[in-house]
Amino acid sequence: MATAATMPAPLFVLLLSCLVAPVAISILLYSLAPEGFDAAPIHGYSFEKSIAVAEKKERVLRFSERVGDGRLTGCEDFAYDAESGYLYTGCDDGWIRRVRLLNADEPEVEDWVHVGGRPAGMAFGLDKCLLVADVHKGLLMVKEDKSIHLLTDEAEGLKFGLTDGVDVASDGVIYFTDASYKYTVDTYMTGFLEGRPYGRLMSFDPYTNQTTVLVRDLYFANGVSLSPDQHSVIFCDTVLRSCKRYHIDGDKKGTVEKFIDNLPGLPDNIRYDGDGHYWIGLSDGRNFAFDMIVKYPLLRKMLVVIRKYVRMPESLGHAGVMSVTLDGNPVSLYSDPELDLVTTGLKIGKHLYYTSLVSSYISRIDLTPSLPKDL
Ligand SMILES: *[C@@H]1O[C@H](CO)[C@@H](O)[C@H](O)[C@H]1NC(C)=O
Repeated sequence: MATAATMPAPLFVLLLSCLVAPVAISILLYSLAPEGFDAAPIHGYSFEKSIAVAEKKERVLRFSERVGDGRLTGCEDFAYDAESGYLYTGCDDGWIRRVRLLNADEPEVEDWVHVGGRPAGMAFGLDKCLLVADVHKGLLMVKEDKSIHLLTDEAEGLKFGLTDGVDVASDGVIYFTDASYKYTVDTYMTGFLEGRPYGRLMSFDPYTNQTTVLVRDLYFANGVSLSPDQHSVIFCDTVLRSCKRYHIDGDKKGTVEKFIDNLPGLPDNIRYDGDGHYWIGLSDGRNFAFDMIVKYPLLRKMLVVIRKYVRMPESLGHAGVMSVTLDGNPVSLYSDPELDLVTTGLKIGKHLYYTSLVSSYISRIDLTPSLPKDL
């Protein structure tokens, strides 16, 4: 048997590193991981082949046109007022801006209200009030006179960390999500790497000022859309690559069931177009690296440390927009390898509009006549 004394030096060093390296790495990981960070297995993620989509256009940047270039930076969600023809969107400088689409050849951009925080989800409610999920501030209401009111920023004693998606039922009740009560928009990546469900779907009743938690333990609660029949709310969990249905009334009242699983990317906002389809923004395409990161908590633990020293990509590309039927069956997918961090897509008239957090504009694609087959 070789002893350290008889062994050739390089072999000894190799053996020693094999023994010491895992211990050293473990100690390093435990000591360098952020305080309170405890990576956990993620439950409910599908490693199967992504759901098939019949109509796919995977080079949409070639056919996209910029709207409001230079003035619409880092936009997140859309709220469309069909009556006035204004499309409202929230920018990363705290401004809600609106674009007049009626004169569709040259849409004009106008500053509307500076909410100050970071407007994410938005939807029109009763009396033309705009409800805004502000990632920093909570759930806001902007009245037609442009006054801003904070409706709620906590539930069950837990303050919202990242208020994200919102929609309003025809009876005025507001449905919204907090992506996490532990992490914020600045630390959400750490939250994802930790892999624990801190997200919630909630409602706010404007008649009683009551905030109610409807669904808890969501990994990254994101977009929200009322079903057109008003009987349910569809909401997306970005990390799980799925959107679910919460029943507001009927026999299944208060229960959650599958809407669409195993999406080809990470779902962000979901919007109803008034014409039989929901449109889901996919912030990134699904890929092998993402699957592995979800699968292995240890890998996430390593990444949270490595991220402190090495700049990691914020996006995996292949972002896009997908349309699905009211029953959650996929219809079409518009994406591009070069497209990053799309949060919202919505078809208005003949155009599909979409946002990207890393663009200084919103984009649109003319869907008529139909795009070339080989796209
Ligand atoms: C709800 O809150 C608003 C604003 O704080 C207040 O004016 C209103 O009276 C409250 N309504 C109820 C029912 O408490």
